[in-house]
Amino acid sequence: MKVSFISPEIKGGQVKSVAVLPVFKGEKISPAYKAYDKLAKKRVSMAAKAGQVDGRSGKNVQVFGPEGTKTNRLYVTGCGKLSGFDAEIFGARVTKALLMSGETTLVIHLDGFDLTPTDAAQAALGAVLASYRFDKYRTKLTADKKPSLKNIKIAIDNPAKARKAWNMFYGPVSAGTNIARDLVMEPANKLYPTSYAARIKKMETQTETAGMKVQILGEAQMKKLGMGALLGVGQGSPRASQLVIMKWSGGKKGAKPVCLVGKGVTFDTGGISLKPGAGMWDMKGDMGGSAAVVGAMHTIAARKAKANVIGIVGLVENMPDGKAQNPGDIVTSMSGQTIEVQNTDAEGRLVLADALWYAKEKFKPKAMIDLATLTGAIIVCLGHEHAGVFSNSDDIAEQLQAAADNSTEAVWRLPLNKAYDKLVDSPNADMKNITVPSAGAGSITAAQFLQRFVGDVPWAHIDIAGMAWKPSRPDPREPAWATGFGARLMNRWVADNYEG
Ligand code: BES
Ligand code: MN
Ligand code: ZN
Repeated sequence: MKVSFISPEIKGGQVKSVAVLPVFKGEKISPAYKAYDKLAKKRVSMAAKAGQVDGRSGKNVQVFGPEGTKTNRLYVTGCGKLSGFDAEIFGARVTKALLMSGETTLVIHLDGFDLTPTDAAQAALGAVLASYRFDKYRTKLTADKKPSLKNIKIAIDNPAKARKAWNMFYGPVSAGTNIARDLVMEPANKLYPTSYAARIKKMETQTETAGMKVQILGEAQMKKLGMGALLGVGQGSPRASQLVIMKWSGGKKGAKPVCLVGKGVTFDTGGISLKPGAGMWDMKGDMGGSAAVVGAMHTIAARKAKANVIGIVGLVENMPDGKAQNPGDIVTSMSGQTIEVQNTDAEGRLVLADALWYAKEKFKPKAMIDLATLTGAIIVCLGHEHAGVFSNSDDIAEQLQAAADNSTEAVWRLPLNKAYDKLVDSPNADMKNITVPSAGAGSITAAQFLQRFVGDVPWAHIDIAGMAWKPSRPDPREPAWATGFGARLMNRWVADNYEG
């Protein structure tokens, strides 16, 4: 989708376009009709009246484009009160409504209502998020089932300022989220540890992310580092595990970085503790945490953030096999701590144990956040409305709450403490990777396990199992299934706390 910002005085309209005219409750009709012809005002007003478009949100009417202009139609749509206007949702809603309209250009008129250039950039963000599709493997889609829109043009009184906001922030945010969605959508026969690592490696040579450095560690290197927890998970798969490190050095030279660490289980069968078949296909998305990290790193590099940020993703496939690890196996993590693997399906924490320890040892970060589709229990707890946050630092937890409020990706904090920590003790090793079922609190005990691998680093764990993919929701910005959750949140967290 091509995004541009234009001044309202477009003479004669745009070729093969539909122009969106908002109607706010209690305001006069959008003056944008003037760009089309004098009669448009009357026709738009008549149509709005006939169609009861009186400002109530979601009430729409379409009018033929005025004769003599290139605009095919005007889409007159109710937007509620101007004071509570959410430009991002508006951009998303009209884009979703008109994506398959047959028109190639969507002109969204935000001019004439004292809306800001930021509103315009946010409308464009909503539009790009709403236009997201994953059609690459659908070979039989007929033309009417494919999006016709190719260009989004936002008409605003100060287009240059809007363009700047788009280029410097909202554009990179939209791209990062859609990159994360693409990765989560991709099936496990296409996206597996080595193909995924190769895809990340490309960020080094893409113009948007110029300056990013990517390092890939293979199994031999991880073995040398002693990453027995991560390697044990990938042991049953013919596909080699990978640890990928993305470096963005936009901050002061030598200043300690922040680390973003992602769970990248490209497919989670459960291993020998095999999952039931129904719904198992969703586990192609069990790399959603890593996708959020990759998406955030894209955004951070694309907007040339003045911060030192390291992204680390542990990429493994969890398979049952003659070579797979067994329940009861004891593995030694890079930290030296031993883990009894009582359930091979609690694999995410094993991957993160080594990835977090590596991040801590190698980069001495001033803060560290991991994202993971870690537990089904977090869905029982928070459903698909919030990700769960666990932190050893009240500051980081507060920063994340604020970043969530500023980025539309909601989080909710849950506790950590000694009593929960004790539950992961094992009589056979330093700890075990599950707790007895009667203990409950499955998401918290998983977080306690992770905390044993972060030392004193200010850290938070975000369990996104309920957010990385979802049943279809009413939010027009979200496609069916993969949401890209976390990329935007992490970018906001970095932007608000670690730049300038
Ligand atoms: N990837 C799953 C968690 C998950 C479940 C993500 C549903 C998204 C939707 C994780 O690896 C897992 O299997 N967790 C187990 C842990 C249990 C064995 C302690 C779970 O949640 O059942
Ligand atoms: Mn699992
Ligand atoms: Zn998993």
